Amino acid sequence: MRYLVTGGAGFVGSHVVLALLDAGHEVVVLDNLSTGHREAIPQSVPFHQIDLMDYDATRSVVAQHKWDGVLHFAALSLVGESVRAPFHYLRQNYLTGLNLIQACTEAGVKKLVFSSTSALFGGPERSEPIPEAALIEPGSPYGESKFLIERVLHWADSIYGLRSACLRYFNAAGADAEGRAGEDHRPETHLIPLTIDAVLGRRPPLKLFGTDYPTSDGSCVRDYIHVTDLADAHILALEQIETRSVTYNIGDGRGYSNFEVIQSIERVSGRKVPWEVAPRRQGDPAVLIADSTTLQKETGWKPKFGTLDQIVETAFRWRKAHPDGYGD
Ligand SMILES: NC(=O)c1ccc[n+]([C@@H]2O[C@H](COP(=O)([O-])OP(=O)(O)OC[C@H]3O[C@@H](n4cnc5c(N)ncnc54)[C@H](O)[C@@H]3O)[C@@H](O)[C@H]2O)c1
Repeated sequence: MRYLVTGGAGFVGSHVVLALLDAGHEVVVLDNLSTGHREAIPQSVPFHQIDLMDYDATRSVVAQHKWDGVLHFAALSLVGESVRAPFHYLRQNYLTGLNLIQACTEAGVKKLVFSSTSALFGGPERSEPIPEAALIEPGSPYGESKFLIERVLHWADSIYGLRSACLRYFNAAGADAEGRAGEDHRPETHLIPLTIDAVLGRRPPLKLFGTDYPTSDGSCVRDYIHVTDLADAHILALEQIETRSVTYNIGDGRGYSNFEVIQSIERVSGRKVPWEVAPRRQGDPAVLIADSTTLQKETGWKPKFGTLDQIVETAFRWRKAHPDGYGD
């Protein structure tokens, strides 16, 4: 099969590219390298450095081949930044998605997998695992921009028959177990890479935003899955959307507190994590856990990296081997 991957130079996209190649598929990457890295794309993979805001350029790549599917990772994805620059985020994520989806319908693409997010549920406090049917109430322009694309995909299906999978990730972490790819966001905002850099002495002590939440140890609880398990879910989702569109929440369903993440990194690294307490951040819910029952029942998906230590171990190994990330 031949797949087009937008955002394939980024963290999740680059791991999905590896999973598709490992499964024997052909892959082409489209990315503007605004937050991704050329080095994250395997040399053998054809690459188009294109901005999805450019409709004509996007359309010409989409029209180049008969794709068996398109996977859309490209987006701006910093929640805090989206609150500071709401119109920029809404414009970028909405128009880039709209351009791609229109180009896909014009070219007769039949399947699209879209990176959606738990930020759709960023409204009121919830401590139970969140199912797909939970109330959509984005707590940020970033979450809202993803919901807009879910709606565009609804119409692309009902009018043009473009089947889609909206995969609402909670927190992706870890790195390719063979060391072929890893996480290198700039700026980094995710807890696991930040804590690893703090333990390696590459950053000042980790700031824990709030230790007075109504959780067992006072720190926030989040749902982490390994990025390769997430990549596998994309391949299973592609099989599901032959005849209908689907929406899946993707997580482990368990949740680990920030202190549990620190303890895991201390076990894996054999070192003490330096940390300090900082004030709560506005809009951070105490607990955010996915109910992935639908994904598991319909596709048989099951995470292979079953413990937090397994996830952290791959991330730690990649970061130690690549202290400057992709180095660009
Ligand atoms: N990482 C997570 O835990 C997480 C959680 C929820 C949702 N998501 C979503 O998953 C997707 C991938 O996340 P990530 O962590 O890999 O992000 P990332 O920033 O590492 O990757 C995004 C990629 O998209 C490219 N890109 C951005 N704007 C573009 C444009 N206009 N044209 C072409 N390319 C463009 C970037 O250069 C980058 O390579 C995003 O859509 C994100 O919103 C990620």
